[in-house]
Amino acid sequence: MVYQHISVQPLTPTIGAVVSGIDLGAPSAEAFAEIKRAWLEHLVLFFCDQTINPEQHLKLGQMLGELHIHPAAPYRDDNPALMAIYAGPDSHRNNGDTWHSDVSADEEPPMASILYLQTAPEVGGDTLWANMYAAYEALSSPIKALLGSLSAKHSANYTGYYGDHEPQRKNPSAEHPVIRTHPETGRKALFVNQGFTRRIIGLSDHESQSLLDMLFDHIKHPQFHCRFQWQENTVALWDNRCTQHLAVWDYFPEVRSGTRVTVKGDRPF
Ligand code: SIN
Repeated sequence: MVYQHISVQPLTPTIGAVVSGIDLGAPSAEAFAEIKRAWLEHLVLFFCDQTINPEQHLKLGQMLGELHIHPAAPYRDDNPALMAIYAGPDSHRNNGDTWHSDVSADEEPPMASILYLQTAPEVGGDTLWANMYAAYEALSSPIKALLGSLSAKHSANYTGYYGDHEPQRKNPSAEHPVIRTHPETGRKALFVNQGFTRRIIGLSDHESQSLLDMLFDHIKHPQFHCRFQWQENTVALWDNRCTQHLAVWDYFPEVRSGTRVTVKGDRPF
């Protein structure tokens, strides 16, 4: 693909690209249109050496759509759209340590997330992303046909999850198709994840758990993945409709910290 305003260096043939030659503080409309094109092709984009303030971070999200408010997470600057991402010496866990698509327990789960990591550990704290188009396409035809007829329940229980921070919505819950069609590319993607998907509707407990276990195992194959080693002041933009991610917590007691702006999506179909 040819770009005039940005440079795009793929991380793997399957998912992920590093974008350079752009200041995310004030991208032109032409440059942002190219970022969007690269994003739909590579699913997660990384922008190194960025200095953006909270307003610019929020503005980036608004260029993609209406902002999503996390049901429970702490936030910065008194703005619930500016989710705090933090793990340090007092933490008992980090955010996103299980494969997930952000807040898939919402009726209309977020389409995009934009994480600005300002403090990164010297080593460790990588994030992995997995391509759910590729995971779907690698399944056999009979399994694709079966999954295409099924939907699944996604839910979360945020009571006490963020310590003293009181959740705004404690128990989001929704039913979504197991295979969704991306509203912009028209491609099919696997849409179940270990973080939020609890059971497949209409199957027995045993059938549901066995099928989910098979799919959770399937998406762990490295051929669907990229792994990103963060440096401070890096922005990642990912598409929750066709990816899942997992943030590795291997840097305790070091600090890893930033903010996430999340963009509303539509009801999966
Ligand atoms: C998340 O948004 O799930 C956290 C991702 C990360 O911290 O790398």
